[in-house]
Amino acid sequence: ASGVRLAGVGSSVPQTFLTNDDLAKLVDTSDEWIASRTGIKKRHVLAAGESLSSHAAAASLKALQMAGVNPEDVDLVVMATSSPDDLFGSATAVQAEIGATKAAAFDLTAACSGFVMALVTGAQFIRAGTYKNVVVIGADALSRYIDWRDRSTCILFGDGCGAVVLSAKEDGSCGLLGLDMHSDGKGMRHLNCVFAGEGMKPLSEGQASDEGSYRNVQMNGQEVFKFAVRAVPTVIEAALVDAKMDKTQIDWLVMHQANMRIMSAAADRLGVPPERVVSNLAQYGNTSAASIPLALDEAVRRGDIKPGEVLAMAGFGAGLSWASAIVRW
Ligand code: ACO
Repeated sequence: ASGVRLAGVGSSVPQTFLTNDDLAKLVDTSDEWIASRTGIKKRHVLAAGESLSSHAAAASLKALQMAGVNPEDVDLVVMATSSPDDLFGSATAVQAEIGATKAAAFDLTAACSGFVMALVTGAQFIRAGTYKNVVVIGADALSRYIDWRDRSTCILFGDGCGAVVLSAKEDGSCGLLGLDMHSDGKGMRHLNCVFAGEGMKPLSEGQASDEGSYRNVQMNGQEVFKFAVRAVPTVIEAALVDAKMDKTQIDWLVMHQANMRIMSAAADRLGVPPERVVSNLAQYGNTSAASIPLALDEAVRRGDIKPGEVLAMAGFGAGLSWASAIVRW
């Protein structure tokens, strides 16, 4: 078995953004309501014609540069996304754009838990000795599936991408210290974005339909809120048990950025002081699978997160799904 190192991180977001005041022109809401209930001030969104894959590629190249790994030496690209440019997968578009010519590439869908689940997936390939360098991406553009007339959802989400490079570590020590992952499909009704296309017409009607589309994001905010407040500290505690560590050893909480009140409640329960909670929710909103690597990238490049520090990551959201990874940066 091989060790794993988190060797680099990068991110990329679209330039276009919408402030709370911009949204107040579209729906009956206010900066005061949005900021006080969620902590969000603005969110970046893809412009028409802009692709998610090119932001994912830009984030990956920055992470590879920090890691000192050449694209040709990447063995695997895993892209966590629920909103790919291509339903057959967007990881291969990234693989081509970054020049990771020998890498296998596939998408992984687990909504806002996607990045943590992809990180664990990538790390297991290295631990097993199969691969040496893996690019793990979290990328989403939920703006594509938002009903911009629905004030209960359109205020929350934003688009963005983040990526981490995992590399094999000679000394065998593992940067993935502990993990815990869960799913509960019975809770799907609380948060989803389901297929709404026609499907195939009966053959007697002459031809199959080529229509296919998805409904808008549907969410029961209060149910998701209650679930998250319960699940996040619990899953982090379980990952700490797996790591044989306790909560006093957490240097930074890097949680999915969905709502400031969810992050504060989790930090309170774990006894982690507010200044140790990484948050960029105010600038980007909820970027789904991208939020953890995006927050991590900014905190690392600011110099807040330092080599050797212990991060408790937790993703949670649609599925329902929730997952935690305790990692050493
Ligand atoms: N502006 C003004 N008023 C609003 C808005 C808005 N944007 N949205 C809702 N309201 C109103 C409601 O209509 C309601 O009015 P009423 O009392 O007259 O009926 C009132 O505000 C309160 O609504 P609630 O839904 O009870 O508000 P709550 O305090 O629960 O906040 C929120 C809503 C922010 C959505 C919260 O429930 C939340 O953050 N939930 C978690 C959501 C989440 O994290 N989702 C993503 C998971 S990640 C993934 O997998 C994609």
